[in-house]
Amino acid sequence: MITIRNFTDSDYAVLCELDAPMFSGMGGPILFRHIQELFGELFFVAEYDGKIIGYILGGVHLEDAALGKLVRIGVCKGFQRKECGTKLTDALFSRMKERGIKRVHLTVAETNAPAISFYKKIGFVQKDYRENYFYPDIPRLVLEKEL
Ligand SMILES: CC(C)(COP(=O)(O)OP(=O)(O)OC[C@H]1O[C@@H](n2cnc3c(N)ncnc32)[C@H](O)[C@@H]1OP(=O)(O)O)[C@@H](O)C(=O)NCCC(=O)NCCS
Repeated sequence: MITIRNFTDSDYAVLCELDAPMFSGMGGPILFRHIQELFGELFFVAEYDGKIIGYILGGVHLEDAALGKLVRIGVCKGFQRKECGTKLTDALFSRMKERGIKRVHLTVAETNAPAISFYKKIGFVQKDYRENYFYPDIPRLVLEKEL
């Protein structure tokens, strides 16, 4: 059974290894430390049989405490399409709701068809398209969902 719990410091090295093939060159080890320090309550891991198989990172806007962000989600290849992503988002969104967050946004590459299908399935709609979102010229779709 897949279970979800908050990230702890002892997960750090394992999570960095798990992240590398999923988000090559996208700074997982640095991102995890920042999210742990700033938004630890919104940092969850998924486990199967005592082994970490996925994670989700959330955040909150300082200037709008009702607006949350899904910063990153990743599920190991062998465990995709088994509702792990859905369980991770459920955990994040219920914690966000407890904190008074009313809506959540994220960005995704327009070429990442599996992730876009996933986000649409769980209720996100496209709100914007941002050119040059990441340096130097990487565009992103902006998706949003009411909680
Ligand atoms: C996107 C991701 C997190 C989804 O996680 P998951 O555990 O596989 O998702 P779930 O099993 O909860 O899927 C729920 C629904 O989303 C949709 N979905 C998920 N993956 C999909 C895919 N590859 N293709 C089409 N639809 C998909 C389906 O409707 C699915 O329901 P179904 O399996 O009953 O058809 C996972 O594919 C992943 O980690 N991808 C690599 C990292 C990544 O791209 N992250 C997002 C970066 S912005």
